[in-house]
Amino acid sequence: MAHSDTLSRFRVRPAEPQDCPEILRLIKELAAYENMPDAVQLTEEDLVRDGFGSQPYFQCLVAEVVDGEKQEEPKIVGFAMYYYTYDPWIGKLLYLEDFYVMDDYRGWGIGTELLKKLSQIALDTNCGCMHFLVVVWNKPSIEYYMRRGASDLSTEEGWHLFRFDKENLLRMAMGE
Ligand code: ACO
Repeated sequence: MAHSDTLSRFRVRPAEPQDCPEILRLIKELAAYENMPDAVQLTEEDLVRDGFGSQPYFQCLVAEVVDGEKQEEPKIVGFAMYYYTYDPWIGKLLYLEDFYVMDDYRGWGIGTELLKKLSQIALDTNCGCMHFLVVVWNKPSIEYYMRRGASDLSTEEGWHLFRFDKENLLRMAMGE
């Protein structure tokens, strides 16, 4: 389908608390795509509390498809979850945590529209850049980002992502 036909059939908007069941569904789909279907421990309640409570830890854009002929409720088919972090060299940056569009709706320009909105948000909030992680075998997405100018910090600057898991945290917290 041509891009101009599909553009009128979807819209991107900020998520609302009632979208959390659908966001969780898409989080699980992305985890399955990344071969970690059982890794998602969060519940809808966690998402509502952490995204829409007194101290939001993340923000989210959702893409929904409207079928004018069927007059059904708009269906959420993609999302971008993000938050702000801080780099002592350059200041505020926007961190894109999850970015996903359902298989049947890929190639409609929904991802491009999500990135456009994220870029506008980043610029409006004085972020110096946008960071994100992509697993090394996810070649289609790596190429998707690189076609849009992304740099691979692992190969270009040698950065590696590290983690202290909860066991380590407990051990260090106990001073062991
Ligand atoms: N399926 C996929 N891509 C297609 C298709 C199709 N059926 N048809 C055409 N394309 C091409 C388009 O021409 C376009 O090319 P371009 O990059 O030269 O513009 C591109 O593929 C798709 O562009 P969009 O329509 O703007 O993006 P889309 O809505 O398909 O979303 C996304 C892109 C989010 C990467 C999607 O492919 C996806 O969900 N992939 C699987 C999950 C994933 O890898 N997510 C990113 C993980 S990394 C992270 O979360 C930070």
